[in-house]
Amino acid sequence: MEPIIFPPYKDSPKPALSPLQEEVLRLKRERNAVILAHNYVDEDIQLIADFCGDSLGLSFQARDTSADVIVFCGVDFMAETAKILNPEKTVLMPDAASGCSLEESCSAEELAAFKREYPDSAVVSYINCSGAVKAESDVICTSGNAVKIVEKFPKDRRIIFAPDKYLGSWVEEQTGRKMILWDGCCCAHASYDPEAIKKIKAALNAPVVCHPECPKPVRDVCDFVCSTEKMINWARENPSKTIIVATVFQMIHRLRREVPDKIFVAAPPNDIQNCKRCRHMDKNTLEKVRDCLRDMSPSIKVDPELAKKARKPIEKMLEWSKK
Ligand code: 13P
Repeated sequence: MEPIIFPPYKDSPKPALSPLQEEVLRLKRERNAVILAHNYVDEDIQLIADFCGDSLGLSFQARDTSADVIVFCGVDFMAETAKILNPEKTVLMPDAASGCSLEESCSAEELAAFKREYPDSAVVSYINCSGAVKAESDVICTSGNAVKIVEKFPKDRRIIFAPDKYLGSWVEEQTGRKMILWDGCCCAHASYDPEAIKKIKAALNAPVVCHPECPKPVRDVCDFVCSTEKMINWARENPSKTIIVATVFQMIHRLRREVPDKIFVAAPPNDIQNCKRCRHMDKNTLEKVRDCLRDMSPSIKVDPELAKKARKPIEKMLEWSKK
């Protein structure tokens, strides 16, 4: 099957905003809202967002915004994090059913029991988890800062890393330290076939960048492993004109705009239905963005006591992530 190849953005037509996009922007102004979008949502939403980025960048934006309303186009743990950081603001989600397979793999009760098995461990939790799991954690990390966060702990400190075992194993490789890994994974990234990646790499004679949520055999056939945001600089600076991308497919929209002179190719599978998509991110549609701004619903609620506990490890992450 032919690979999905995106020509350079600079040579592509740039359609004007649609009436629906205009309507969203009008509602956004009326509500004094900010639209935050993850790199994994569809292009029509990315194009009207005030900020489009990775989990770390979005957390900073959510913390620092002066808007009254945050529309979070991503998945539930991201919107929940924004609410935890901004209890007084209204945080809207286009579709409240957008969850995350990693989040589902780890409940707060299970993590608390795990902590009892390994007493005196520090708990570093990937941001892809519930507020209740965050409240059980010492510090949160994203894929963009996981190495830096883990390295903040003394070398002899035992660390439980939850819930992504693949991100955890990558951090182990980068830091040279063993951790106790929770057995969870992202179902989209976990299912790449390393052989198919090797084949497309050889056929196009182009480098591959992948996300650290990919399993080791996949990471091992790729040229660079990084968070979605770091892919931009890497793609810009890599001498190759063509870059193969092994992460959720919509990331290529952001890469094309930021690096408009390069050709981007989605790592296989090679049809648009079966290429790597996140079924939860895909629940975000422009219609639902319009509806949530119009109806001021669904709006995220977090128990204030839980929010207080969960805020600490998130704020610690933001503090530790400063340059
Ligand atoms: P980042 O936002 O850290 O790049 O991670 C993307 C992701 O896979 C979220 O599940």
